[in-house]
Amino acid sequence: MDSFVWHPYTQMKDWPKFDIISKGKGMWLYDSRGNAMMDGVASMWCNVWGHSKKELTDSMIKQTRKLQHSSLFNLTNDKAEDLAERLVKLAPGMYRAFYSDDGSTAMEISAKMALQYWSNMGEKKKTKFVSLENGYHGDTSGTMSLGYVPSFFSKFKPILFPVLRTPSPNRYRIPKGYSFEGYQEFCLEKIEQIFSKNNTIAAFVMESGAQIAGGVIIYPKGFQKKISKMCKKHDVLFILDEIATGFGRLGSMIEYQRQESVPDIVSFGKMLSGGYLPLAATLANKKIYDSFLGEYKDMKHFFHGHTFTGNPLACATSITNLSLYKKYNLISKIKKRAIQIQSRIEEISNLDLVGDVRHKGMLMGIELVSDKKTKTPVSLSKRLPQKIFIEAKKHGIYQRTLGNIVMVIPPLAISEKELDFLLDGTIKTIKNISSQV
Ligand SMILES: Cc1ncc(COP(=O)(O)O)c(C=O)c1O
Repeated sequence: MDSFVWHPYTQMKDWPKFDIISKGKGMWLYDSRGNAMMDGVASMWCNVWGHSKKELTDSMIKQTRKLQHSSLFNLTNDKAEDLAERLVKLAPGMYRAFYSDDGSTAMEISAKMALQYWSNMGEKKKTKFVSLENGYHGDTSGTMSLGYVPSFFSKFKPILFPVLRTPSPNRYRIPKGYSFEGYQEFCLEKIEQIFSKNNTIAAFVMESGAQIAGGVIIYPKGFQKKISKMCKKHDVLFILDEIATGFGRLGSMIEYQRQESVPDIVSFGKMLSGGYLPLAATLANKKIYDSFLGEYKDMKHFFHGHTFTGNPLACATSITNLSLYKKYNLISKIKKRAIQIQSRIEEISNLDLVGDVRHKGMLMGIELVSDKKTKTPVSLSKRLPQKIFIEAKKHGIYQRTLGNIVMVIPPLAISEKELDFLLDGTIKTIKNISSQV
């Protein structure tokens, strides 16, 4: 069959092999021939309840009949208002919510907010950003600049703005001569040095709790908190990205609360709508928001907006999603599932190809190496991601690797039995591809 769709991050020569998904129910995706596979990556890390959750589809239908879209330019809508209030009450220290359609735009917005904040304050010099190496904040030009993953973005370098970058503490790949604690200190000192030598820094930007796309790097305790303190000390805005790590993925509703590091600006996306509709929100504290108030002639208002900003259908779905977290006590269930994952880590670590397993909450990255001693990554030239994908399907799961890292990122409400199925299938997949790479 011919296709007219151009797929993301995909060599389109592979097209004839693609499965056409036509139905989703619970943890399962069904292709047009009725074959089922478990959604082992939560449809790009966003699905919360599994597919076709009745409460969510009912609320979508109800809202569709009332109001599908109306703009936030000069008007508002009841669902956008209701959701913003809930988000602000949920996220400590935040004061207002600015809507967008996806994680990348939410992070573009956070950077623009920070820049315009300093401009509104009359601080024209503060225009530079600092971020962590291996950070990922999206695929638009601004976010590729903020979170530069070289293998993804080197082709676009000519149009990216310069960002100062500091190392992130990957316990598995510490440079020679450092203990893990020593390396953390080194990473923090680099930030301190940049802050104390420059009075031009607008903001520090990082993923909250862990970096995912840049290699599943889970921060050690206190790391994020220390950075937030340095930002305060040097009058640098602290911007967090909770698009992939908030709303339960790491086992907490608001990860920065657990990290004891309240930001000036934070973004949520992916799971915000339960993973059903494109919706993201950038929340700012009162200090930021107040700087945008003034006479019209001052031109201090925020220069940003999209056609679908505050879409009522997406907001209504998100309100229902939030109410389900409470109704089903999801965060405490996630804690049990996280213990279940933890109990399998030794078994996974002992597999031939596995160099390191990094896990927190409902996120697990399994790093594959060809030599455990030298930690040499399994070569991608042998089409490792495709091999994993094909092998995993034989065990009934949809799995996606990030380079040499097998990602286990299921819908958050996965049951004990379903999670065992996913972990068993992942183990069998890694065992069976050992001879092929
Ligand atoms: C931490 C983080 N920020 C931003 C994004 C971009 O989100 P989106 O793909 O919705 O644009 C992602 C996507 O994976 C992400 O993981």
